[in-house]
Order: sequence, then structure tokens, then C-alpha cells
Amino acid sequence: MCGIVGYIGGKNAQDFLISGLKRLEYRGYDSAGIVTLSEDGSATLLRAKGKISNLEEKLAKNKRDDKVGIGHTRWATHGEPSEKNAHPHQAGEIYLVHNGIIENYKELKQQLKEHEFKSETDSEVLAALINSFYKDGKHPLINAVVQALKLAKGTYGIAVVSKLSPDEIVVARSGSPLVIGVGHGETMIASDASALLGHTKQAIYLNDGEVAMIKKDSVEIKTLNAEPVSAKVEEIETNLSAIQKGGYDHFLLKEIMEQPDSLTETLRGRVNIEDGTVRLGGPGLSEGQLRKIKHLIIVGCGTAYHAGLLASYYIEKFTPEITVEPVIASEYRYRQSYIPEDSVALIVSQSGETADTLACLREIKKQGVTTIGIVNAIGSTIAREVDGGTYVHVGPEISVASTKAFTSQVIAMVMFGLTIAQAKGVRSSILKPYVNEIYNLPKMIHETLESVQDAIKNIANKYANYEHGIYLGRDTAYPTAMEGALKLKEISYVDANAYAFGELKHGPLALIDDRFFELALLPKGELYDKAVSNVQEVLARGGHVIAVTNEEKFDLPVDDIIRLNTGDIFAPILMNLVSQLFAYYVTVAKGYDVDQPRNLAKSVTVE
Ligand code: AGP
Repeated sequence: MCGIVGYIGGKNAQDFLISGLKRLEYRGYDSAGIVTLSEDGSATLLRAKGKISNLEEKLAKNKRDDKVGIGHTRWATHGEPSEKNAHPHQAGEIYLVHNGIIENYKELKQQLKEHEFKSETDSEVLAALINSFYKDGKHPLINAVVQALKLAKGTYGIAVVSKLSPDEIVVARSGSPLVIGVGHGETMIASDASALLGHTKQAIYLNDGEVAMIKKDSVEIKTLNAEPVSAKVEEIETNLSAIQKGGYDHFLLKEIMEQPDSLTETLRGRVNIEDGTVRLGGPGLSEGQLRKIKHLIIVGCGTAYHAGLLASYYIEKFTPEITVEPVIASEYRYRQSYIPEDSVALIVSQSGETADTLACLREIKKQGVTTIGIVNAIGSTIAREVDGGTYVHVGPEISVASTKAFTSQVIAMVMFGLTIAQAKGVRSSILKPYVNEIYNLPKMIHETLESVQDAIKNIANKYANYEHGIYLGRDTAYPTAMEGALKLKEISYVDANAYAFGELKHGPLALIDDRFFELALLPKGELYDKAVSNVQEVLARGGHVIAVTNEEKFDLPVDDIIRLNTGDIFAPILMNLVSQLFAYYVTVAKGYDVDQPRNLAKSVTVE
């Protein structure tokens, strides 16, 4: 996902832009650029392929004390990563940065013959379109932006500046987030609030269809139809330490290790251990509405989907008479699925900006289904468009690979399921074990991380050169295996795939040879013995098995074993910690970029 920053005020704009872009690096990018304007009407445009450090090398030779400018980190959609495709893009006197996709850019480009295109991007087409209305300053910049956006189809978060009016920045959004930071004699913009921390705690979250003209001491917002919008200034909840590594080598390890605390924040005020119940205020559903629910759809992508799939197993176990349907957002949004009466949809998203999940939410809302967000990013688009919701409150998740959010998403959804079961009168003897273990889970996570970290680091070094991995589990350990495989593949680039243990003999067993290792999850319980038999099938074919289990009696001759000495119902959540650490240490051993893996972005705001 691209990153946008902007500054106008009394300080050095170049300094703010570079530091702001560094805060947004975690989103993933392949090139970056900034432009700043001088009072004499000149502009300093600097762009570079690759990391921001390459941009800083150019900046060192082009320092300016300009007070207004915009910047961008690009995650390529149209046109390969290169300096000419990097933003900001120029058209006449204006410069533009853009996050999103202009779907009709080819048709628009046909009408812009007078512009000499230098890039392959849809964003440059938008810049040229704006300039075709701006006519080098014959019309106000904001009016030119509005007229252009009325012709553009697709998604955008944009910032536009002009050499002819270096005292303003025009911003607009539809589908890609933009937040305005309000300071003292200065105003900032960013794709997310983390770039504003340390500068201001006051933020205005722009909504879809809004455009704003910002000056160093004013923000004027209106809709594309010129209706004025009153700016709602909100407090930014995050603090600076939350977006710093805090002594860890990587954000990923920090976010894995802080899960006892992050889950504690998820549970805060929501678990009543005395009477064995949970209470969620955010969904805003009455007892009667909860009691009526017959069908739950759980929507997400990637890790969020895995969280929903895992939660669905738990909810079915303690809530009778309801069906639970976890779906992949990018698939479900195009299906003609029948949604039964008395359905509720859980919309799961860490960033709250994932395009496919947002599109799915909007489709489901059109069918009159109540939507409940399970979101982390406060004030994000999904969080603001659902009917109700539960923030997981894990703090900013900077590393592209999602870890602490997964754990809290699962538990937040299980708690939502418990509120349904409570409303339906399910016996407390059934529900209390879940509530008790949820209450104790942060402590169990802490104990597990402490006890397994060193062993996993050693095992990871042993398996770091395998090109293929198979993750295996049954029941609640199966979605956990899926999540573990995703973690490994997305940061170490190892070809890791998950299979339900029972599916092995239906094909995947043929894969097993010395090129593969198998990571087998064996929680104790009624399916443990079956999982043991499956591991024996793997061993019989020469498999290299890493077993993860909390069953003391496990004694198969596997290559490696990680024993957990805590956890029962939610043992799979603890086993997932093993997979998270395993993926981390394999990636470190391979020397790859742990927090910003190739080709990926932290939040995929394009479809
Ligand atoms: C998970 O490690 C990945 N980064 C990715 O699958 C992510 O979970 C997915 O893109 C959904 O993101 P969201 O939770 O912000 O919607």
C-alpha cells in the first residue's frame, strides 16, 4: 500500500516529509519521492527507486528550507518500480501523490493529448487531468481537483500542490485513507496517523468523497458537490513508543513478544471472571438481537481470514443452532451467496483498509445484513462503515506479517460468540471453561514465549535451508496450521502449505521426501490419537517432522519436538506462537527483510 505525507507550516518541509515516509515504510514500497515549494515559485522534486535511503542521498545535494511539500512511498500497481514511475508526478505547475487505482485512466489519457506523459502510471494521468482544469492557475486548485475527480473512476487518496500557490495543499480521498494532523501554525497529512506522532495528537480523518484545502493554520473540507463539511478533530490514541522497535531487532519480534500485553488490552473491561461471562459494548446488539442470530458470516483476507476460520470452530462448539460461515473476502464479494434471515456478518481487518474486505462489507450491507467490525486501526474506513464493532486494541502492528492482531482477532470473535451463547441461555458450565481460559490466556502466552523461544531459534536454524514446508493440524489446529504456513511463506519465501491431517492421504502425502519438512500440531484432546496416526504415516515415508504438542505422552520418533506445558482449549493459539517464532528465526537465518518482505504491503488497499 502506498504512503502519503504532506506538510505546510513554519518548519523544514523536507525534514518532515522524509521522517514521515520512514514512519510509513512498514506498509511496503519499492520507490519514494518528495517535492517541496519555495516562496519564489520554484519546486524541488526528488525521486528514487528502492529504499528511502536512496532518496536521502539525492536530498543531501538538494537541501532547501522550504515550508510546504508532499511525499510518497510507492507500491507499484501500474508500471514497474522506477524513478520515472515514482511519485510525485508533475503536470504543468502542479505536483500530485496518489494512493489507489484510477480504473479509467486509459480513456482519460486519450483526452489529454497536450500532456507529455513520462511515466506508465495511472497517477500521472490524474495529475494531467487536474492540470487540464487548473490551466496553470487560471482556476483555483481545489476546483480543478474536484472537476478532475468527478471524471476519475476508482480509488484514491491524493495530495496536490502548485508552484503558483505555495501556501496550500489540496487533499481528497475515496477508498484510500488520509488523515490531517492539526498543529500550532502547521498542518500535516498522512496515510495513517503513525506519521503524525510526535508532531500532533489532533487528527481529522477525511471521509470518502471529501476534498480539503489545507493551509498552515486552516483546514477547509467540502464534498465533491461543494457542500461544506465541518472538520471533526479527534485525539490520536497511539503513542510514539508503540511505533518504535523498543530494543528488538525487528518489529515482528517485538509484536510477537508483546502478545501477553496486547491480548490484555483486547480483554480489558470485557471479561467478568467472577460470573464467568463476557461483555462487548461495541457491537451494539441487544440481548434480543443476539438471541435471534442464526447465521454468522465471518469475512476477511489472509491472516484475518484464518482468524475467522479458527474462531468459527470455537463458536460452533459452544453455541448450538447457529451456523458459522468464514469466507475469503475477495471470493465472497463476487459470489451470489444466499444470506439467510437473522444473519450477522463479522468484518475482520487489522488495518481496516483492505480493499476486498471493504468491498465485501459494502456488498453485505446492501443486503441489509448487520455488520460488526473486528478491527485494530482506530478510525479506519471499515471501522467507520460497519454498523457496530469491537476494536482489538493491540496497538499499531508495523511488521507486514500479522501476529498480535491474529491472536486478538480470534479471541475477540470467540468473545462475540460467547455473548450470543449467553443470550441464547447456553449453560454457564459450558461457557465458563472458555471464559476462564481466555482470562488466563495472556499469562499462558507469556509462559509459552518464555519457554520455547530458544528451542525454536535452534530448530529454525536447522530447517532454514528447506525450500518446502508442510503444516498439519486437525480441528482448531487446522486453521492454525494455515496461519503458520502463511507466516513462513510471506517472510522467508519458503513454499509452505497447510493441510488438514485427514487430507494427507488424499494427495499431499505424495509430496513427502527430503526436500520437505513437516510441522505437525498435536493438541491433546479427542482427535489427538488420530493426529498421532497421521504423523506415523508421514514418518513411514521418511518425513522430517517437527512436532508441537501439549500432550505429555507424545513419544513418536520425530526429528524435533516443541512441548507446551500450558493451555487446553486455546492450545492452538499457543502453538501459533511457535509458528510465528519459527517463521521469524528462519527468516533471520536466511538474512531476508523480516518486517518488509518483498512484493507485500501491510494493508492491501488495491484489489
Ligand atoms: C498477514 O500476515 C498478511 N500481512 C496479510 O495476509 C493480511 O492479514 C491481510 O492482507 C489482511 O489485512 P487486514 O487484516 O489489514 O485486512
